Amino acid sequence: MTRRPLIAGNWKLHKPLGEAVSFTQELKSALSPEEVVVDVVVGPTYPVLHAVSQAAEGSVIQVAAQNVNPNESGAFTGEVSSAMLKEVGCSYVIIGHSERRQIFGETDAFIEEKLQAVLNAGLLPILCLGETLEEREAGQTTARVGDQLSAALANVSAEQAANVTVAYEPIWAIGTGRTASPEQAQEVHAHLRSQLAERFGDVANDMRILYGGSVKPTNIEELIQQPDIDGALIGGASLKVDSFTTIIQTAQRVFQQS
Ligand code: 13P
Repeated sequence: MTRRPLIAGNWKLHKPLGEAVSFTQELKSALSPEEVVVDVVVGPTYPVLHAVSQAAEGSVIQVAAQNVNPNESGAFTGEVSSAMLKEVGCSYVIIGHSERRQIFGETDAFIEEKLQAVLNAGLLPILCLGETLEEREAGQTTARVGDQLSAALANVSAEQAANVTVAYEPIWAIGTGRTASPEQAQEVHAHLRSQLAERFGDVANDMRILYGGSVKPTNIEELIQQPDIDGALIGGASLKVDSFTTIIQTAQRVFQQS
């Protein structure tokens, strides 16, 4: 089974309008559509989504939102719906990032609602899961991420599951420079895939599971060589065209050699 890798940048609260557009233009020039065989996604802040989508037109670059509200409309001050994201050119939506779970108190139930809303709108969710350092040290990693996975996918059909990307992001590896070893990440990815297979059967072989947490040009190769690591969700190293492009090109080379 060959899954096409996905390399996604999560810009978090970075890159105002001018910088976001010029980054996208530079990345577009660096990636020739004829040569790119991996999926490339950037995740800007809400106010610049439309401009980034427009700058990405005619390229391989697809756009992700970093969040969404599950409601279609209504009295939800400060929120944005899936349909609105689609209208401004998003294809993907990052859901359940640990920063949203920890800083903004998002629950598994709320994340499940978001995931359904995103799928119903015809967008592609990137569902983030991950354990804390305390949970890892207590031997609870697979139980923790397994629970997050089953809660988020509670009402997803096998047909819908084919459109879901999972991102395993150990919290202790985010922004710390401390990456999970390829073996540590593979172990969790394999566990997640077996859980997906129990639930969705063969569809699990087509679902991408990304790794996130201090991914850099120097460690992407050994990570993506793992059989169940199908790409990366990248914070810091996605903010520079050079490092992001190197990660994309490395993933592409490993994929082509496999
Ligand atoms: P870093 O790559 O900066 O560790 O961030 C990972 C992340 O949170 C991506 O969503």
